[in-house]
Amino acid sequence: MKKIYCLLGLLVLVGTTQLYAQAHKTTSKSTVAGLSSSIAAGKKVYTLHCLSCHMADGGGVANMNPPLIGTTYVLGDKNKMIQIVLKGFNEGVEINGDTYTNPMPAQATLTDQEVANVLTYVRNSFGNKASAVKAADVKKIRASLK
Ligand code: HEC
Repeated sequence: MKKIYCLLGLLVLVGTTQLYAQAHKTTSKSTVAGLSSSIAAGKKVYTLHCLSCHMADGGGVANMNPPLIGTTYVLGDKNKMIQIVLKGFNEGVEINGDTYTNPMPAQATLTDQEVANVLTYVRNSFGNKASAVKAADVKKIRASLK
């Protein structure tokens, strides 16, 4: 009798470990899929709303529109970047020795998800590597700007 309980116990243990491993695998896989689908969707938003100024390779136009490659705005605090897109930007920045005085118009008609996707795309393209931006992050900043 004892032997049977022992065996049952072992079976349950093996079963749970497998279930756990399965669940774990699914989550990490879907996170990766979430990131790449956000990047793909963000590329479309970028093409429509940012490319004309910041160019397809993110290199910008010297002294007119700054590059989005390795700048402190792109790799730094995502809240600042969200603000730039929602409110526009007119602070006159100096990047790699060039000054930019043109104002950037606000892109506030983009949805929270579109802003999240485009910023996730920019932060993971052109040689940049930074964390993803979530729609919830954008929602918070949009509410704080009202
Ligand atoms: C009409 C041209 C134009 C469009 C469209 C535009 N930008 Fe900009 N962007 C600028 C200019 C000009 C600046 C610099 C503003 C300043 O000097 O204060 C800027 C600055 C920035 C900055 C901060 C500086 C840097 O280079 O890191 C970021 C980030 C940025 N833009 C992202 C975007 C994203 C993302 C989009 C699309 C959703 C976009 N921009 C659309 C012209 C534009």
